Amino acid sequence: MLSTQSIPVVRATLPAVGASLSSITELFYRRMFEERPELLRTLFNRANQANGTQREALAGAVAAFATTLVERPGERPDAILGRIAHKHASLGITPDQYTLVGRHLLGAVGEILGDAVTPEVAAAWDEVYWLMANALIAIEARLYAEAGVENGAVWYDMEIAERTEESVDAASFELRRPDGRPTEPFTPGQYVSVQVELPDGARQIRQYSLSTAPARKTWRITVKRERSADGRVPEGEVSSWLHAHARPGDIVKVSLPFGDLALPEGDSPLLLASAGIGITPMLSMLDHLADASSERRVTVVHADRSPAHHAHRLELDDLVGRLPHATLHLWYESPQEPVMPHIHEGWADVTRLTLPEGDVSAFLCGPPAFMRGVRSDLLTQGLSPKDIHYEVFGPDLWLSK
Ligand SMILES: Cc1cc2nc3c(=O)[nH]c(=O)nc-3n(C[C@H](O)[C@H](O)[C@H](O)COP(=O)(O)OP(=O)(O)OC[C@H]3O[C@@H](n4cnc5c(N)ncnc54)[C@H](O)[C@@H]3O)c2cc1C
Ligand code: HEM
Repeated sequence: MLSTQSIPVVRATLPAVGASLSSITELFYRRMFEERPELLRTLFNRANQANGTQREALAGAVAAFATTLVERPGERPDAILGRIAHKHASLGITPDQYTLVGRHLLGAVGEILGDAVTPEVAAAWDEVYWLMANALIAIEARLYAEAGVENGAVWYDMEIAERTEESVDAASFELRRPDGRPTEPFTPGQYVSVQVELPDGARQIRQYSLSTAPARKTWRITVKRERSADGRVPEGEVSSWLHAHARPGDIVKVSLPFGDLALPEGDSPLLLASAGIGITPMLSMLDHLADASSERRVTVVHADRSPAHHAHRLELDDLVGRLPHATLHLWYESPQEPVMPHIHEGWADVTRLTLPEGDVSAFLCGPPAFMRGVRSDLLTQGLSPKDIHYEVFGPDLWLSK
């Protein structure tokens, strides 16, 4: 909770700081990487730096946190922080790193806002930063403790046991512990971070959702190759590297599983809506439900460009078939084959579905435009915002929009 003397100062300066957050976060990363260039090569995602999405996500999170502190002081702003803490934990971020980040972030506030940053203003924003940092450090400490590891020690060698081409642009990789020990438990919907060493010597890290049930002996990730559609943007570094080089028998560095997407316990109905490679967390949830012979009512919606682009198409059919009260609804931009009753042409339209009675929990994963559309449709159909959960396959920009 912010101190009484800082509340009016933060409230008065929030509009100015908020309006400049984009320049502040841009300068923050520039200054931090000038001092510690290795962080950009070995820890941060350099595509997200180049395309600006990471600084946008940081700006959105800081603005949301500060706004909560001054507008709703009784509310714990931790809800905003869960996703960030899980991402940090999957990267092995440690408490000492917060001092470096705080110095550069607060330095950038001073540099951008100039004389407006009096000692009183600087002290108030220092307090905001450390409230946020300490809340993140606490959640991350809990996540490390639950995973049974020391601060940040989340990386393990994993061996690729099998590779399967799952669609025209996605391949799956089964991962096992080289020492034969069982893989760590996780909850369906969680992801791991994977690091690869690229030809220029940089180590880059990306997240991949686990795409089978936790009960399997191995983990599986499914990676879509990010191609350069029109030559204007480079092809994806890590996904292309994995597609070109990763083979059975190879050892890759993989983190323990993290992520705050979690199926509610009980027998309430579920709606799982995915598009493209967003199918991966849904597969894990469905595999888990099928393993448990679940009687839950599950509405599965998936949208894709065509059946050839639809990774794990037959597996999805099979999983839905194993659940007595699950229905499958597919949308393809180009169906390419005779359309069956559950296959539709065009963009996914959940307003055409009759949702089960009861408190439906919805899980969305796919491109932001897809998730926004489905979310609006579900709200119109009477779902409560608290029951709509989502995973974004990149920095979460929902807070900043
Ligand atoms: C929680 C989570 C779970 C995920 N699960 C999965 C999963 O199950 N399967 C999966 O395939 N992916 C998943 N992802 C996405 C994955 O982590 C990677 O983001 C994805 O593989 C692309 O990484 P890349 O290194 O290939 O591309 P990057 O090199 O990171 O590039 C990403 C995009 O940025 C563009 N770009 C790069 N440089 C620039 C520039 N200078 N200017 C403009 N644009 C630029 C690229 O063209 C590309 O389109 C997940 C992400 C998260 C956060
Ligand atoms: C109060 C301090 C911090 C805040 C508010 C913050 C905020 C964020 C946010 C919003 C994201 C994006 C999460 C997502 O949606 O995926 C993120 C990711 C990340 N953070 Fe932090 N962070 C802080 C401290 C740190 C520290 C101390 C480090 C270590 C140097 C760090 C390293 C990273 C990295 C490497 C990523 C992933 C970047 C990417 O994938 O592009 N952060 N952080």
